[in-house]
Amino acid sequence: MRLTTSSKSTPIGNVEIHEVFRVIELDAGRSVGSSVSDAPDGGSSNSTRSHSTIPFSFESLRAIESQIAIVVPCMDEDRATLAGVLYGISNETLIVVVSNSTPTNFESECELLADFCKNTERLGLAVHQKDEGLARAFHAAGMSDTMMEPRQQQTDPLRIRNGKGEGMMIGVALSKLAGKQFIGFIDADNQVAGAVQEYCKVYAAGLHYALHCSNAIDPHAMVRIKWNSKPKVKDNQLVFEKSGRSSRVVNEWMNRLLCAIAEGENQDDIIQTGNAGEHAMNLDFAMELQFATGYAVEPFQLIDAWEQFGAHLGADNVERLHTAIATIADEEGTPTPTPTSSPEITPALSPVFTAHSRLSTPPTPPEPRKVQIVQVETCNPHFHDTSKGEGHIGRMQVQGLSTIYHSTLTPPELRDHLRVYMKQSFSSLVGPGGEPEKLRAYPPMKHMDMAAFAQVVKEKSQLLVVGNWDGKQMI
Ligand code: GDD
Ligand code: MG
Repeated sequence: MRLTTSSKSTPIGNVEIHEVFRVIELDAGRSVGSSVSDAPDGGSSNSTRSHSTIPFSFESLRAIESQIAIVVPCMDEDRATLAGVLYGISNETLIVVVSNSTPTNFESECELLADFCKNTERLGLAVHQKDEGLARAFHAAGMSDTMMEPRQQQTDPLRIRNGKGEGMMIGVALSKLAGKQFIGFIDADNQVAGAVQEYCKVYAAGLHYALHCSNAIDPHAMVRIKWNSKPKVKDNQLVFEKSGRSSRVVNEWMNRLLCAIAEGENQDDIIQTGNAGEHAMNLDFAMELQFATGYAVEPFQLIDAWEQFGAHLGADNVERLHTAIATIADEEGTPTPTPTSSPEITPALSPVFTAHSRLSTPPTPPEPRKVQIVQVETCNPHFHDTSKGEGHIGRMQVQGLSTIYHSTLTPPELRDHLRVYMKQSFSSLVGPGGEPEKLRAYPPMKHMDMAAFAQVVKEKSQLLVVGNWDGKQMI
């Protein structure tokens, strides 16, 4: 694979988000090295930036592909379509199907996965999101926030909540259990196996770039796919639309937030993948990020990365920090620390808002790791099931915008503008003033007790394992 990269990026504290790279060759053979060119900025300004084309050899891609798990969240998708997705996933990659389908469909998905993995001699896992043993394993591991409520009685079965985000968390936990270093997500309703294969290669190339070609030492890495187009049928013609409706809206507001919090002058369209359903990262990063419920999961990853690793807190947040300090000091009867006159507080202090730290003995947290976020535009268009309805798109937009609205980083004026926009555009989905509901976000999975999870999953769940797991041949 060969990518055209760009030297342009936006830093937000420790997070660096790169301008979109492009796939310009699906198979770059054995070539190594890169060529650099200075190309004029395509936008209105006269600035130049350098573009390189970087080939990624089979070996460099394979090094990632053998260490990555691809999670396929699936809810009642067409069997033949799911089969195409499996056919497109690179051979040395672990497949993890997390299903929230009807029992009959789940049975058929398991059968499909089992046949495919047997025929191709590879490892595949499948589990149902409502599997009671799986829920018990999450519960035992300390992730009880993911449980459905209310349970009428103690004896009612535990169940993990519905939602794509929740399904992805299950995929993260199973991939960790399988000892993988990276994780990627590919929707089960992708209708083109060749596009799935391109996504796998893009994950490998993008992760390789983020880990080895940036200046950061041992960074977290994330790759977000910007599909080339999302085709729609209009007046009996196939139209290759460059952006989807959710992406257009969420990207615009995400860029407005970015411009408000990033240092220096910034492009106002650097984020092209706010909703990227297809994305990959190193597993440690997936364990550190908070996952949000449902379709808020992808926009929230950017917000959470900035909140946890990135943004220097602005004046508004400094004030809130001082209020928090005063409140805790009052409760403990300790003198209120004198507020610092510095206009900026490093992100290392931001856990004051969420964790239960004692401020009288301020902790000295470790320097957060750098985060490299790479966005890559594919060659293939993204054909997927488009029959899920208008309401579905509206809810997805509102969920994405809600993550921006409720971020502690969002300046009050931007929040006001967003509220007005949401009131005008989504009146039936938001509060009377335009406020979107604050969505559930789960604690980072790094707090999971993985030993407890492993034990309960193995003993109690109906996890389907096809292939060689822990040296043992299963099913
Ligand atoms: N396990 C599980 N549990 N899977 C689910 C659930 C669930 O509750 N709900 C949906 N899925 C699966 C679907 O079967 C599909 O494979 C994938 O998650 C994405 O769901 P879609 O309903 O097809 O979403 P979409 O196509 O409208 O939106 C996709 O693209 C957006 C960007 O344009 C999603 O990937 C979004 O997350 C993304 O923001
Ligand atoms: Mg879809």
